[in-house]
Amino acid sequence: MLARLTHKRIVLGVSGGIAAYKSAELIRRLRDAGAEVQVVMTAAAQQFITPLTLQALSGNPVHTDLLDPSAEAAMGHIELARWADLILIAPASADCIARLAQGIANDLLTTLCLATKAQLAIAPAMNQQMWAAPALQANLTVLRERRVAVFGPAAGAQACGDVGEGRMLEAVELASRCADCFETGVLTGQHVVITAGPTREALDPVRYLSNHSSGKMGFSIARACVEAGARVTLIAGPVNLPTPERLVRVDVVSALDMLAAALAASQSADIFIATAAVADYRPEAVAAQKIKKSSEMLTLALVRNPDIVATIAAHENKPFVVGFAAETEKVLEHAREKLLRKHLDMVACNDVARSDIGFQSDDNALTVIWKEGSQVLEKASKSVIARQLVAMIAQRIKADN
Ligand code: PMT
Repeated sequence: MLARLTHKRIVLGVSGGIAAYKSAELIRRLRDAGAEVQVVMTAAAQQFITPLTLQALSGNPVHTDLLDPSAEAAMGHIELARWADLILIAPASADCIARLAQGIANDLLTTLCLATKAQLAIAPAMNQQMWAAPALQANLTVLRERRVAVFGPAAGAQACGDVGEGRMLEAVELASRCADCFETGVLTGQHVVITAGPTREALDPVRYLSNHSSGKMGFSIARACVEAGARVTLIAGPVNLPTPERLVRVDVVSALDMLAAALAASQSADIFIATAAVADYRPEAVAAQKIKKSSEMLTLALVRNPDIVATIAAHENKPFVVGFAAETEKVLEHAREKLLRKHLDMVACNDVARSDIGFQSDDNALTVIWKEGSQVLEKASKSVIARQLVAMIAQRIKADN
């Protein structure tokens, strides 16, 4: 299931061996499956394939030197060690395996392997006699005891003319072994589109109508969806929050902007989650100049904004649609009415009359309603609530199919 590689960060270590040419194909396979790839090459590897080739394929500069001041300033070995979800050395030469087993850190690749907490995997490639050598097998036993995954090798004709065990596995097989290293998230392979934050409806060049939404709930849900393995598009109104990692963020201002972004992103969406507090009305006309104080009373003419979540839910091939309902009274009654009127699959109601949850707060509490049932999510941090909600969404989708 290659989809498990979506958003995964893989450091591909390339050591010296004729099988280094297969690394080029492996990078392509990993990236096609949605993984990000950074390449580290030993000096010997560069005799077999150029860093430029692997740079072009990975889309990232290739790392070659431990003591390279310019590399250390950008992504040094400790950052790289922390960045990785998986380090795969392919091909792993007999020398490289020996140095790993001994804990020798005399180049960037072996140093990285000592400095990381990520899963380590090796794809050995060598002559069949070397593969069978007791010293090599003893080193492999040491590595296996340390939970290093060993992919292959395969048997067959070798570059040196011998026939036997020691050929590096093919790129397609290695990509699949990498995918096996990752747990299946409950939303693996799903595209989730999330709206978050408020919208701003301009009155004139300096004023607007808006609300108190901070975007925290929507951003927490976006993070929880990424954690669950989803590909996430986060459509954010004007908020003051950093972009979570590993997702696409689209910034918008008004409800009309948000609708356009939602329509574009949801064409390929499996799930649409509307946490945004969208302004229901906008000024009929936006004054070209700042509105001046004149009379005691100022009357604003407002027109209805389109309902974004209802528009998405009305599509023929609609995604699984989750709305939010911010209510100050008759919370469940109003939320159920929204579920039916907007044709939602699920609605999460927020009692925004409470001051300890909802708008701006770091905490929330929700009652989640769907046609046949409901579930209360007791007060907790928005990140905990977000994970619980994501688990419920995955469960409902499974139950519906
Ligand atoms: O952003 P935070 O500070 O973390 O606060 C979180 C929150 C309180 C904003 C959030 O949890 C929440 O309740 N969001 C929904 C707010 C809201 O506008 O509710 P509503 O009842 O007015 O709208 C119902 C649903 O229709 C919502 O999913 C909303 O996104 C959607 N909607 C509403 C109007 C509109 N024109 N288009 C829409 O898509």
